[in-house]
Amino acid sequence: MTDDGSTLINLHDMEEAARERLPPMIFGYYASGAHDEITLRENRACYERIALRPRVLTDVSQRDLSTTVLGARVPVPILIAPMAFQRLAHADGELATARAAARGGWGMVLSTLSTTPVEQVRAATSATLWFQLYVFRDREMTRTLVERVESAGCSALVLTVDTPILGRRERDVRNHFHLPADVSIAHTMPGDMQRLPVLEDDSGLAAHAHRMLDPSLTWRDIEWLGSFTRLPILLKGILRADDARLAVEAGAAGIIVSNHGGRQLDTAVATIRALPEIAQAVAGRAEILIDGGVRRGTDIIKAIALGARAVLLGRPVLWGLALEGEKGVTRVMEMLRDELDLAMALCGCRSIEELSADLIATY
Ligand code: FNR
Ligand code: LAC
Repeated sequence: MTDDGSTLINLHDMEEAARERLPPMIFGYYASGAHDEITLRENRACYERIALRPRVLTDVSQRDLSTTVLGARVPVPILIAPMAFQRLAHADGELATARAAARGGWGMVLSTLSTTPVEQVRAATSATLWFQLYVFRDREMTRTLVERVESAGCSALVLTVDTPILGRRERDVRNHFHLPADVSIAHTMPGDMQRLPVLEDDSGLAAHAHRMLDPSLTWRDIEWLGSFTRLPILLKGILRADDARLAVEAGAAGIIVSNHGGRQLDTAVATIRALPEIAQAVAGRAEILIDGGVRRGTDIIKAIALGARAVLLGRPVLWGLALEGEKGVTRVMEMLRDELDLAMALCGCRSIEELSADLIATY
């Protein structure tokens, strides 16, 4: 129940409640996609268009939702996606998210643009914690950050490869998106770059990214990263089979099929549509995860049946965080977990291993 007595029973309700709670500039930053937001909508629409073929009479009285990601056991195939600036949602920011992750045993990916230092987040959760990396123009700074993340005890690096330049989120341009005075990026940035500029005609984050991120990145840089880190590397933002093959050849332990939640290239293919060709190309040589538009338990069934090991959940985590901090994140994750559990039973499946391609209707 919320303050006004309304009942929030699914992730869509959480979004509507968060829209009412958050200032428009912050809600706009969290919710928006690039340009016409076509990919943002398609991520959902494509899940909605896939039909399931349930099995019956299989004794589903006992169900096990656990699986492994890169060898680490997780209680559900749902990880918390890396998302910047969580202290805009709640004073406890990433700490609240990490505490919820600790309580549920859920895997979490921390953003380079975290508003809480990685050491504090690591201390707040004993569950799987990966670090999302942006490669800076300043390679020494990048290397120092990776070393810091390793010492802090994160168990994998998630290199985001779909952001040579920030996508144009028009809501952020109109709202002159920036950070309020009491929120800043926790990891070291040169000069005044721990904050975002306030601009008349652009998003402060777009300007920040332009100044900081290296748009010259290539496949050779994956080797460079691998040359000094002992952490497994996942590439986040792959949408094609040929790129997935190159990722495997470059030594990636994992691939995250992602279009950044529709925030980068608008009209980029919906992730669930891209997944089958990637699963086929990778052929078990790396683990495949997927994100973008996962809002129902049945979406997770579809993603796993089509070749993903697990999904990452983005915005709904922020809605939970905005509404109730740690408790809200727990609420969101449990809602989705319970929906997955129900959907598994109704599909006639007792374990994640049983989620196979024949559950998907082709027509
Ligand atoms: C993101 N995402 C993201 N990705 C990343 O690699 N580094 C980052 O710092 C961020 N920051 C970020 C902030 C906000 C507000 C959002 C909504 C998203 C993308 C994120 O990891 C993920 O790919 C998508 O959010 C998944 O889609 P859904 O679940 O939000 O539809
Ligand atoms: C975003 C960046 C920070 O999507 O990844 O806002």
